[in-house]
Amino acid sequence: MGKNIFLALLLLCIAAGASLADSGHLSLKSDTTKHFSHPDRIRYDGSCRTIEDTCHARSVRVEENFDGGWLFARYGLQPDGTEKTEPKDVAPQIVAFNDLHWRKLNLPHDWGVEGSFRTDLDGYTGKLPWRGIGWYRKHFKMASAEKGKQIYVDFDGAMANAEVWLNGHKTGERPYGYSSFRVDLTPYILFGKENVIAVRLNTEKLGSRWYPGAGIYRHVRLVKTNAVHVVQWGAFVTTPEISSENGRAKIEVKIDNHLPKAVEINYAVEIYELDSNDRPGRKVATGSPQSMKLDANGIHAESVQIDVPHPLLWNLEQSHRYLARIRVFDGNQLLDEYDTPFGFRTIEFTHSNGFLLNGKRVQLQGTCNHHDLGALGTAVNIHALERQLRILKAMGCNALRTSHNPPAPELLTLADKMGFLVMDEAFDCFLQSKDKGGNDYARLFEQWHEKDLAAMIMRDRNHPSVIMWSMGNEIPEQHVPAKFYLFNQLRNIIHKYDTTRAATCGISLPKETAFSGVELNVDVHGMNYASGKAYGGADLYGRFLNFKGHEQLAGYGSETSSTMSSRGEYFPASFQMSSYDLSEPGWGSLPDAEFEALDKYPAICGEFVWTGFDYLGEPTPFNSDASVLLNHSGMSKEELEKEKQKLTEIEKNRPPSRSSYFGMVDLAGFPKDRYYLYQARWRPDFSMVHILPHWNFPDRIGRITPVFIYTSGDEAELFLNGKSLGRKKKQPFEYRLKWNDVKYEPGELKAVAYKKGKEWATSAVKTTGPAATLQLTADKSEIQSDGTDLVFVTIAITDKDGNKVPTANQEISCRIMGDGEIVATDNGDSTCLISFSSPCRPVFNGLMLVIIRTKAHAAGKIKLVAESPGLEKGENVIKVIR
Ligand code: GAL
Repeated sequence: MGKNIFLALLLLCIAAGASLADSGHLSLKSDTTKHFSHPDRIRYDGSCRTIEDTCHARSVRVEENFDGGWLFARYGLQPDGTEKTEPKDVAPQIVAFNDLHWRKLNLPHDWGVEGSFRTDLDGYTGKLPWRGIGWYRKHFKMASAEKGKQIYVDFDGAMANAEVWLNGHKTGERPYGYSSFRVDLTPYILFGKENVIAVRLNTEKLGSRWYPGAGIYRHVRLVKTNAVHVVQWGAFVTTPEISSENGRAKIEVKIDNHLPKAVEINYAVEIYELDSNDRPGRKVATGSPQSMKLDANGIHAESVQIDVPHPLLWNLEQSHRYLARIRVFDGNQLLDEYDTPFGFRTIEFTHSNGFLLNGKRVQLQGTCNHHDLGALGTAVNIHALERQLRILKAMGCNALRTSHNPPAPELLTLADKMGFLVMDEAFDCFLQSKDKGGNDYARLFEQWHEKDLAAMIMRDRNHPSVIMWSMGNEIPEQHVPAKFYLFNQLRNIIHKYDTTRAATCGISLPKETAFSGVELNVDVHGMNYASGKAYGGADLYGRFLNFKGHEQLAGYGSETSSTMSSRGEYFPASFQMSSYDLSEPGWGSLPDAEFEALDKYPAICGEFVWTGFDYLGEPTPFNSDASVLLNHSGMSKEELEKEKQKLTEIEKNRPPSRSSYFGMVDLAGFPKDRYYLYQARWRPDFSMVHILPHWNFPDRIGRITPVFIYTSGDEAELFLNGKSLGRKKKQPFEYRLKWNDVKYEPGELKAVAYKKGKEWATSAVKTTGPAATLQLTADKSEIQSDGTDLVFVTIAITDKDGNKVPTANQEISCRIMGDGEIVATDNGDSTCLISFSSPCRPVFNGLMLVIIRTKAHAAGKIKLVAESPGLEKGENVIKVIR
């Protein structure tokens, strides 16, 4: 058949229901979406992407969830510190290995968080027994009908040093635990028979400054394609032109030919609207068919452009997304169908006007976050991630820094949908290690950095939420002029894979590094702790902006504050930090100092606060890890010496702390006071006023007890038992209102906030009665019985009138009735060493969290019952949806 007839046929086939409009673009009839009527066809959350409706689609590409039915055994270091030798003669990668006694589990799985805390383990990685060797095996059948297909397994991440075997043959490896990677099973797969995939992970020597987790902690998919198919991450969508009339999408398509002969194929791109449930809707553009020649066993990439009339822009309020669908044909036979979501939006970093989204200045109100999900450890769960983002969004946070590694892909899909900007980060070091043993990324850098950086960018580059690529954090080479070339090298790698976003780096000690020349090796300069007294101070941003040579360079606070606090602690006992929000480490600053610096220099794009959530590990200031020193290797000798002594002192006291104090939100997801300080600034139009501390201090009667007010208003009046303690107005560069000389008397504190002279918000805190009742509040009333959905239930202790008792610390025990299970509990106390899997724990300052899941195939209702001696029990009923 001639090529033209081919193309005509193809055009007919892909544009069924479409007609050519005058403009030359295809316009659409309303019924073109009919074959997308299956709501669950494809989910873009990375957890499951199964094409299962139309028969043509089923035969060309199947991406199925591969999380279920794994077997697991742990060797090497055990949770109790003993060792178990790996089987040598018949090793677990061999098919005949006897795995009958291995534990059955579903992924994602983090073996570290399962163990009990151990006081002898390091606080900086969470006092959890995550070091060890983990083996996973899975037996699966591959139908004979699949013969001729390419079979892959896609890992979103495995911690760490992954080695993969299929039927005894080594098929892949990936040392960096945060990288997504594909393993090609095709050479060794047995069709019509059982196959065994085996994965060995080893975290025994892994160097990390925080809790990294351990295991296949992200999702895994089995991908089946024809021999000719779009490669992994093989469609790169950019939007070179955007106006209200027209959005031009440029799609680079990369196709792989696994046949031993050259082929000529055709492909075409269609664009659909994509709804918030990831369902493709109206088709908005159809590209004309293209032909492509592929060598025998060759890969080829080329680009096409498609115009979308009147594109809806992606922004933080309305996260409009589109779907590019690439269909590959041999004649009229469909070979592959590959989908990728994207958005139309413009981004720009400017020297004099900060960051622009769609041409409008947007202040980056960001938080840095590590990847753990608190009591769930690092085993990724989209519902837990979504909860975190909801909490951050309500504070006014609009940007996320994935410190200091590539995130789970679900995070970016959520960011796209919920309206966050993302600084996607690769590494915590280059060649020079921050780990005593040199076992962090420094060990891998030489051989892997390009592959790992490329994997992150290729996977993430169609997400409209991603606005910059961060090559790293506080890279020790930032102090060594002879090594600045490394930053430039990484910038070049970044631009090899994406020229539409800025390359950046979180660079610390800006007093020197904002002017040393290292800053000229990135596109946008990230300054860590610029407003910290030790690092720069209030005017550092000014110096940066006015420095000769910086005329085109944009800057932002890539990491700020590091204020430490424990929720509900005001006059803390040992190993807690006061929630008056006045403690910062030597290198940090209080939120107020950064606010002042940003207000003085609005040309700076904004900040990423350390951190949104508390995380497992790094419990500064009770963190005796030597990496604290290496991380701040730019300190003077005297400073270093002082720090060393402090660490030695801390170590002597064997602090019980196992998670950080930096969060605005505690590990269980309960906001600390600081949350409201940021909310007051980040949501100026949201009427709110927050009073601290609580007012339950029976032992402080008559004693000075300062009261602070955080409000989005500009003035507030404070009343104690009806008597005014004065009205205060925020002065220039003042961000919290303080009454430092309040004498405590029980009763009620009330705040009335004003904005521009008018009443704006009120709130009150009361001295409560004694603990009487358990009050349970779930974040939703229904749960899907799909094995992944979670419900988060907050248990609060109240007095007999329903007031929450902020000092309560009673021991609670929880049980479930019905087809549910308690996955974990937590209370936000950084020093609590009760295992997260325990259904019993004390509330910490009045609150506790219970995380619930259904059992497989559950139905009906689940009831959570919480009890504590002497208190009225609490219950919560959740409906199970199948
Ligand atoms: C920074 C570092 C972060 C974290 C933080 C604690 O210097 O980049 O990873 O360690 O200090 O304040």
